[in-house]
Amino acid sequence: MSLSCVILAAGLGTRMKSDLPKVLHKVCGIPMLQAVVNAARKLRPDRIVLVVGKQRELIRDAIECEGGVYALQKEAKGTGHALRCAKPALGDFRDLTVVLSGDTPLLGAETLRRFLSLHRKNTNEVSVLSFRAKNPGAYGRIVRDRTGRLLSIVEQRDADPVQLRIDEVNSGVYALGRNALELVDGIPMNKAKGEFYLTDLVGAASERGLKAAAYCIGEEEEFMGVNTREELYRASQALRKRIIDKWIGRGVNVLDAGSVFIHPDVSIGRETTIYPNVHLEGNTRIGRNSLIYPNVRIRNSVIGGGVVIKDSTVIEDSRVGDRVSVGPFARIRPGSEIGENAKIGNFVELKNTTVGKASKASHLSYLGDAVIGKNVNIGAGTITCNYDGVRKHATEIGDGVFIGSDTQLVAPVRVGAGAYVGAGATITEDVPPCSLALSRVKQLNIEGWTLKRKLKVRSMKFKTKGGKRR
Ligand code: UD1
Ligand code: CA
Repeated sequence: MSLSCVILAAGLGTRMKSDLPKVLHKVCGIPMLQAVVNAARKLRPDRIVLVVGKQRELIRDAIECEGGVYALQKEAKGTGHALRCAKPALGDFRDLTVVLSGDTPLLGAETLRRFLSLHRKNTNEVSVLSFRAKNPGAYGRIVRDRTGRLLSIVEQRDADPVQLRIDEVNSGVYALGRNALELVDGIPMNKAKGEFYLTDLVGAASERGLKAAAYCIGEEEEFMGVNTREELYRASQALRKRIIDKWIGRGVNVLDAGSVFIHPDVSIGRETTIYPNVHLEGNTRIGRNSLIYPNVRIRNSVIGGGVVIKDSTVIEDSRVGDRVSVGPFARIRPGSEIGENAKIGNFVELKNTTVGKASKASHLSYLGDAVIGKNVNIGAGTITCNYDGVRKHATEIGDGVFIGSDTQLVAPVRVGAGAYVGAGATITEDVPPCSLALSRVKQLNIEGWTLKRKLKVRSMKFKTKGGKRR
């Protein structure tokens, strides 16, 4: 039996007051639609169809859905019309179709699995996933007869006062058999709104005697539909809390859950401590026993164990080995790799640079497009001049090199293993291994110069009748 998922994502999202398609607004760093796609994929369906509208290019660029098929809904004429637009893209995978909304980002695959197994076990043609809402607000109301049999779903604006008081509401998740799917073509237009409501399919199915049921499972938070900025904020906070609770449960020490932001795909080892105002983003992995001090942002990076990331440091698309110390106020830009036991100190910037084991750059440096060996000491104020105005060039520094303070390395250039570079050098030519490179004018001391200068100044003042220039 085939399984398909249709994700409705073509709505205009006018209530968001935004130029961005609603489903691309992010919850904990992930577009809402991506979160739904991820949940759908866990069901391993034969096909995923994403129904998108005018802004389809933007959505295609932002969403990763391998093997997913896009269906166009030219005009947003309602959820029923959206499903109708998806039908051709389903091909022959129509035995069981799960319909999801792109604006319910907290929905988990576990709940979907439970829902589908209820649908299958009861051999329904239509199943609706419902939940009890503290404030039913704009959700569709689940209308049942006296025996509890599902009759229909009534939208808020069409509900009578009795129906408005129903607190069991529609999550927007449906499971449809072949026959039920066919009914979508017959949904009439809702006159009040000028739209085709997918919810009307439920009434149509039960009228035709197709087996229909609503399953009130799970917690309200998980089914939260995001239509406004306020709801987006609430959904983000709910997911944020869920993620932090998970890591605390797994042995991570979070000092202030209220100010820490951890994206869903991040992982953190036990015994690691996260100070306030820390942002861990994208595909970041942090090992055990590390310390992440305040105001740190780490994105798509792998951080080892026993690492110390000191205050106000930014790390992006990089790797940091075990027992490394970075910061405070360091910037590790994409493509950097810091070897075990190395130290990157304050006001040091790395870009696309490899630093070998136990090497140190403790203060005020820019190291770009460089490969630095093991046990190297980079003096304060060292700069790789990697850009000639047109192209970027590489700097190579061998194992055990000592670079004196305030050195400029004009790339492309190599400093051989074991070499020393004297402070204040401008290195434009390769330095052979185990040699000393000096590049500064020999110091000249003029003795008594200050005293002589004072005499000269005094005589000048005398000539201009003193003090006038004051
Ligand atoms: C819908 C349901 C409501 C349910 C709620 C759950 C209908 C008529 N109402 O209301 O019963 O309680 O979801 O969150 O279905 N979309 C399209 N094309 C369109 C219109 C919408 O693809 O023409 C997509 C939207 O992008 C969105 C989803 O369908 O992802 C739901 O649409 P939305 O307008 O948010 O419906 P609600 O008013 O929330
Ligand atoms: Ca909605």
